[in-house]
Amino acid sequence: MAVRDVVVWPDPRLRQETQPVEAIDDRVRALYRDLCDTMYAENGLGIAAIQIGDPTRMFLVEPKLAGRDENDPPVAFINPEIVFASEETQLSDEGCLSFPDVFIEVERPMRARIRAMGIDGQMFEVEGEGLLARCLLHEYDHLTGKLLVDFVGPLKRQMIKRKLQKASARAGGEL
Ligand code: NI
Repeated sequence: MAVRDVVVWPDPRLRQETQPVEAIDDRVRALYRDLCDTMYAENGLGIAAIQIGDPTRMFLVEPKLAGRDENDPPVAFINPEIVFASEETQLSDEGCLSFPDVFIEVERPMRARIRAMGIDGQMFEVEGEGLLARCLLHEYDHLTGKLLVDFVGPLKRQMIKRKLQKASARAGGEL
């Protein structure tokens, strides 16, 4: 178990093609534990494997948001598929662990249903409304290489790039 470094945009690893999981083996279970540790260390509501540099098609959602008990372990979504997304939309600011201190207004479906395999190897479905739908679709986007900056124009994208590069230069100076 380990807290891993979160990959920050514009690192090209965030655009890697993701690979489906063939079997829940020790590698996948170790990845799940690292994702749990990293998500909690970073106070994330969710995290995708690609955000710690691993292109496995898998993301996690914090248990309470995913409709489980808050003391349950984070919910793993492995090889997820979108079963349904509503035409009705919601508009709200969205953050991402790969874009520290950046918030972008993103229009998303109000409700979404995802089918995935759990860390126990069983298929399951979760339907979310509001923030859960937003979180599920945001994490799903990571697995297709889609990022928050893809929702803004080129000028705003440049501003965000400068901000994050300045922040990472500062962090480097402190170490
Ligand atoms: Ni994200």
